[in-house]
Amino acid sequence: MKTLADVFKEALRERGVESVGALSKRFRKSGNVLQDMAVETFYGKGAVVRLPERTFFAWDLNGRRVEGSHYAYVPSCMVEKFETVVGRKDLLGGLPNWPRFIIDLYHWEKHSQTEKGKICLQTVQCYGLLRDYFTGSELAITWANSEFRRMYTGPLDRITIYDGPTAEFLKEEGISEVVLLDPWADEVFSENDFDVGAFIIGGIVDTGGNKKKTTPKIGEELERVGIKVRRRKIVLKGDVIGVPDRINRILGIILKMMVEGKNMDEAVYEMQEPLHARWRLRKELPKHVIRYKIDGKTYRVVEKELFDYYSSWLKIRWEDFVKILHELNLIALERKRIHHLNKISSARIIHEKVYRVILLKKAAMFCYNC
Ligand SMILES: C[S@@+](CC[C@H](N)C(=O)[O-])C[C@H]1O[C@@H](n2cnc3c(N)ncnc32)[C@H](O)[C@@H]1O
Repeated sequence: MKTLADVFKEALRERGVESVGALSKRFRKSGNVLQDMAVETFYGKGAVVRLPERTFFAWDLNGRRVEGSHYAYVPSCMVEKFETVVGRKDLLGGLPNWPRFIIDLYHWEKHSQTEKGKICLQTVQCYGLLRDYFTGSELAITWANSEFRRMYTGPLDRITIYDGPTAEFLKEEGISEVVLLDPWADEVFSENDFDVGAFIIGGIVDTGGNKKKTTPKIGEELERVGIKVRRRKIVLKGDVIGVPDRINRILGIILKMMVEGKNMDEAVYEMQEPLHARWRLRKELPKHVIRYKIDGKTYRVVEKELFDYYSSWLKIRWEDFVKILHELNLIALERKRIHHLNKISSARIIHEKVYRVILLKKAAMFCYNC
């Protein structure tokens, strides 16, 4: 899917511009200069103009720093002094029909004041994410009441704040089919779902109370008035555990898949924090436990090397691995030591569970060898 930077670059290329400088300090720290210039141009804050003299340095259309250019982005207060090469109007003509990304506040009143604050913060972060790829104005907030408007700290004029039901907004936009991101869905979100007019994320924060299974209700509400809803979940290696559930992180995963072409596991990994990775590790490690009974005492052991495997797809550091070992009362031993323990032990079923039993004398030998 094309980004706004792609549209900007096409417009520059069509006009024979291969590099562009800036008469503005605002892009100095930018990690994506052409996208940031494109957004500023889109909002009419400036334009690319032709200069009589070269700038000190410039960026080529791959975003690399190169020698100066006769073309530069200038803020709107300076535009009239020069000949405009690419301005807002030139971008508007080439924009693709990007989908809508809707945060549905149907459950707003179920939240505490702190949670409402978190919803607002995550919403601002969603605007920032969309601005990294498109313009930010693809974001719409539905069921948005005056309290939300008061609490929202992002640019109100750059997104759609709709105080009515989501279905009404969709009808106004001529959208009849949507994807609802829903952790309770049967089907997994995939590239076959990229073609809808809107993606809906529940404006829900789960820090307290019981908001379990509230997302499906958003879908039911839409279906009731004739909107076709594809309910889709995001999973990490087949399981929703470990998928970050914050509104902005779910949006980030969708964008990484749709725009950057990442597969779901990669996209989840990139949006994950150690907190979410630990949720999953808690579920994974018990699958590998070997129970040893040494002198009547039980030890639950896992291979230390599991850290290498899990850190390849979960964002865990060694301290996260150790934290979960402690929580689950597990001991991590190197694989070669486990092989040795297995050699000096024999398997027994005790209370329907398999234990490897080691006689005290052999255990002493093991410890001596350690
Ligand atoms: C914090 S979650 C709220 C989940 C809600 N308590 C429930 O049980 O339905 C906020 C929103 O993120 C999205 N979301 C979170 N995890 C997801 C997942 N694994 N797959 C798809 N969407 C997800 C959903 O749109 C959801 O409404």
